[in-house]
Amino acid sequence: MSLSQIARSIGASPTLALNEKAAILREKGEPVIHLGGGQPGTKAPLDAILAAGAHLNTGEVRYAPVDGIPALKQAIIRYTEEHYGKRMSPENIIVSNGAKQAIMVAMQTILDPKDEIIYPAPFWVSYPEMATLCGAVGIPAHPADGSFYPKISDIEQVMGSNTKAVLINSPNNPSGAMYPESFIADIVQLCENRDLYLIMDDIYHRLIFDDQVFHSCYDYTKNHSDNSKLIVVNGVSKQYAMTGFRIGWAVANTKLIQAMSNIQGNQTSGASIVMQKAALGALNGVQSGVESLRLSLENNRNIMLDRLQAFNGVKVTKPDGTFYCFADFSAYQKDSRKLSEFLIDKVRVVTIPGVDFGMEGYLRLSFCGSVKDITEGIERIKWALDSEAPNELYIGDRKLVRDWS
Ligand SMILES: Cc1ncc(COP(=O)(O)O)c(C=O)c1O
Repeated sequence: MSLSQIARSIGASPTLALNEKAAILREKGEPVIHLGGGQPGTKAPLDAILAAGAHLNTGEVRYAPVDGIPALKQAIIRYTEEHYGKRMSPENIIVSNGAKQAIMVAMQTILDPKDEIIYPAPFWVSYPEMATLCGAVGIPAHPADGSFYPKISDIEQVMGSNTKAVLINSPNNPSGAMYPESFIADIVQLCENRDLYLIMDDIYHRLIFDDQVFHSCYDYTKNHSDNSKLIVVNGVSKQYAMTGFRIGWAVANTKLIQAMSNIQGNQTSGASIVMQKAALGALNGVQSGVESLRLSLENNRNIMLDRLQAFNGVKVTKPDGTFYCFADFSAYQKDSRKLSEFLIDKVRVVTIPGVDFGMEGYLRLSFCGSVKDITEGIERIKWALDSEAPNELYIGDRKLVRDWS
């Protein structure tokens, strides 16, 4: 069978195979602990459910406008004003099927084949594949100091004549790092000075810890006109625990939004009207759920950090936000895929290999599950890796015996 060049160059989602393996093991009754998840375990806000239910009850579930229903756009305008201090018009907004589609359509709108888009490493697994889908090239920028916090010089280092755009994700998946205000200010300026597009993937911007403050990129723009090349992406998936609703959005200049709508309209049409109503319910409804999610994630972060710091061979950086911890396990095993496989095979704990986020030797561990899963999951990992651990570990009444060294 002959497949297109693009189809041949796109790999399966790295998490998919691990998730499948975990699901098969669970079905067999194996006590799997999932520390690989990318979504909060809490329920969607009641306001979202009621709004979606009310629309379903009308029985009139039709196509929605390609760029989003007016009421949701108004809610996004209010959201952007509240969280970014920036007043936008409906023509500056497109609602998409998740932040993922908003980023994908933005890339398709701005990237030609061979154009380069730069993003700091570690990076979200989908960015390189999205660039490939555009025929473009994703270029990771590795911080020279080995940290998770890029400097402007790290970005400049990989800039070239094909650079068309920069993509920033802060707080970051997988590291949890929130880049400092000075970096956000400088990257906005750098892109403006060099006439580059700048996509801000802010999907985790309300899930930050230790009383830190999120910095709006709009505070540092000098170009306030409608030809600004700044694209801000956000959505309801993470902050409202609404991953399955598939609603995200982008805020950008009117020409870009028009072009993105043309692409999206021919790809998928508008996002589901029922789900847009749900997102509207979430944005306009009671907001306390976001804060309680943030607080419980901060507590989980502390527990995970505490447990990981008890390892001799793990280097860990405190996540500023999100629900991921990206820890260096290379002292135990340099090949992160092998290590992930080993952990699920031996102690039934799912982790995500760092190599898929652009950093070998690391594992991404999620702390969006229960405290019990975090503590037990880390305890099992420690037992599996610590050569001085007792020879046996009990999981409930099941006895695991170490048959490796
Ligand atoms: C950094 C980042 N951006 C975007 C997304 C996509 O979010 P959505 O569910 O809104 O498509 C994710 C989801 O994991 C993410 O981690």
